[in-house]
Amino acid sequence: MKKRHLRLDKADEQAAILRNSAQYLLAHRGRRAVLLVPGSFFGTGKLARLLFDVTILSRVAGIKFALTYELLPPAGKGDPNGPVCDAVMRELEKASSASKTEIEKLLAYDTEMIEGVKHTSTMNLEAHRLGVVKQRDLGLRGEVKAIKPADIRGLKQAAIVIVPPLGFGPGRRRYFLGAYSVALAFAKAWKAHKLIAFCKKADFARLAAPSYMLAEAKKLAQEAGSRSLKEVLQLGVAALDAGIDRVHLISESGDNGLLPELLTSNYKHASMLSKDRFDNIGRAGLVDIPSIMALIKPGVDDGSLLPRTYEDIEAGIGNYHVIKLDSSVVACVCLTYHKGCAELSCLAVSDEHRNRDYGQLLLDYVEKRVRARRITKLVALSSRATDWFEERGFALATSRALPPGMRESQARRNSHILLKKITAAPAR
Ligand SMILES: CC(C)(COP(=O)(O)OP(=O)(O)OC[C@H]1O[C@@H](n2cnc3c(N)ncnc32)[C@H](O)[C@@H]1OP(=O)(O)O)[C@@H](O)C(=O)NCCC(=O)NCCS
Repeated sequence: MKKRHLRLDKADEQAAILRNSAQYLLAHRGRRAVLLVPGSFFGTGKLARLLFDVTILSRVAGIKFALTYELLPPAGKGDPNGPVCDAVMRELEKASSASKTEIEKLLAYDTEMIEGVKHTSTMNLEAHRLGVVKQRDLGLRGEVKAIKPADIRGLKQAAIVIVPPLGFGPGRRRYFLGAYSVALAFAKAWKAHKLIAFCKKADFARLAAPSYMLAEAKKLAQEAGSRSLKEVLQLGVAALDAGIDRVHLISESGDNGLLPELLTSNYKHASMLSKDRFDNIGRAGLVDIPSIMALIKPGVDDGSLLPRTYEDIEAGIGNYHVIKLDSSVVACVCLTYHKGCAELSCLAVSDEHRNRDYGQLLLDYVEKRVRARRITKLVALSSRATDWFEERGFALATSRALPPGMRESQARRNSHILLKKITAAPAR
């Protein structure tokens, strides 16, 4: 009997993930993502999980992926950013071809299971020698010259393309480009929507927030305590500056592939850099109901929010408003109108995104709508966030301030009644 319950819980969890992901999957259809595969994943099960998720995302969400990969510096060959001599270049070429073969083998296996996903790989990219930088001759280290996606054979048809981090220059001379510069150059030329990179566990531990805006990411990069964190943040900042919408930084320590980090928005092992605070703020649609329910569940459980069923929300969907970040709902509010007053309820911000002004943003948004209707009273019932409302211009009131329809619900919950006078111009 116990076992059966466990199975049902798991099924519920899986169904919830699927419902919550629907929006993300639909929103990303046809988008392009560049994925930087960490060198430490080769020869481990992590690479297989990562590529399987890439294949699923390609097939189910229609996301096109370009994969480039890090080549670990040949053992004992010193500075990973230092000069590349002929001997090192030969080792890097060998390592690149082995890495590419490992990716191709795994993708061949995955695409056999998930039919309909084509993958291809590009030739080495056109490059030129970096030359002497700060009086140091970098030997066969090069930089990407130009990428013309239209000239890359099979790129249009393929769902996944492998791009080696090597280039060639005049006389077919080989250059080492490095995964970061290839990822960035490819993402720019291909007009990718996302760049996904991994960072070391210790570096990830220094990223305190689930998302950073460009200015915050720039500051973080300047103050980064380690070279590897600085480099990955600089890559992210350069990508955002170049017009890539989102950069995901995922901890190499996570063992669950790509799907949980991109789809569940629990950001346990991932942080996101973006130019904008959020994708949009606006009216919710039916497709958002599962996400709204998941968002309010902790508040319902601890008594700070009223329980609402799927049908309750569906019936009043026009009253719900949400903030979305990377196509996932991160905050919601319900705004209803009574005679002579407006009611704010169901205000919830996901745990991971608290204290980043999303609550304030929703309140500003609600007030703007109320003001546009020339309504001067905004009420909220709150049991656990009274101070939050008071600090934003609400005052405690008695039930006389409530329209008759709300009095009953307040009496049942014995919640605080908060009232804000909405003036013609926002009080700032
Ligand atoms: C209340 C809530 C919506 C605030 O969202 P948020 O996006 O984290 O809030 P903001 O970023 O705009 O504001 C953060 C500030 O509010 C404070 N704050 C957060 N929750 C608070 C609460 N329950 N009571 C008092 N202050 C609170 C934070 O400490 C922070 O203070 P600071 O600016 O001095 O550091 C969020 O905590 C939540 O979802 N709570 C559970 C549901 C709930 O109680 N809803 C209200 C009833 S409708």
